[in-house]
Amino acid sequence: MNALFTMNIRRAFTEDLEGLAKIEKEYPEYPAWGLMGLKAEFENKHSVTLVAEEDGGARGFINFWILPPSIQLNGIVVSREYRRNKIASELMSKMLEYAKKNSCLGIDLEVNIKNEAAISFYNKMDFKKVGQRLKFYNGKDDAILMKRQIKR
Ligand SMILES: CC(C)(COP(=O)(O)OP(=O)(O)OC[C@H]1O[C@@H](n2cnc3c(N)ncnc32)[C@H](O)[C@@H]1OP(=O)(O)O)[C@@H](O)C(=O)NCCC(=O)NCCS
Repeated sequence: MNALFTMNIRRAFTEDLEGLAKIEKEYPEYPAWGLMGLKAEFENKHSVTLVAEEDGGARGFINFWILPPSIQLNGIVVSREYRRNKIASELMSKMLEYAKKNSCLGIDLEVNIKNEAAISFYNKMDFKKVGQRLKFYNGKDDAILMKRQIKR
């Protein structure tokens, strides 16, 4: 893959959603919106879904809610075979542009304590742990609450 030259990040359209739901299904171990859930995000005026596409194919996506003074990052997913190509990093940069345009001062998220890949990624992206919710996922796994401040 040559992410630097051909990757495009844009708002998702209805036509993208089947492809995005397929990417989610690559990770049955984590909670998913599913097609209906992804569609419902279009009805929420605070919600933004961005797609990373390459050569016309979706490689990953991010969903977040703009709730000034913060952004709630609900999920970021990259197709398995395209991981470690900075696709999630690019999606995150684009979200930061939205944050700045909307005068948001921080980004909040929660992540399953067992999701080591995501926690490493968020650490790399300057998120800090600010709390923990016990047995938040399926009454079993804890959620780690993380926050990133946005420099103005
Ligand atoms: C977490 C996830 C989004 C990362 O996507 P990605 O496109 O592979 O991430 P990037 O290539 O932008 O990674 C940037 C940096 O984050 C860190 N990182 C990313 N994935 C990592 C992993 N599996 N293990 C350790 N560090 C990781 C690394 O420092 C990486 O830089 P490097 O590759 O130069 O070492 C991806 O693994 C994924 O989709 N996981 C399943 C869905 C999920 O759990 N989403 C989060 C909860 S909603």
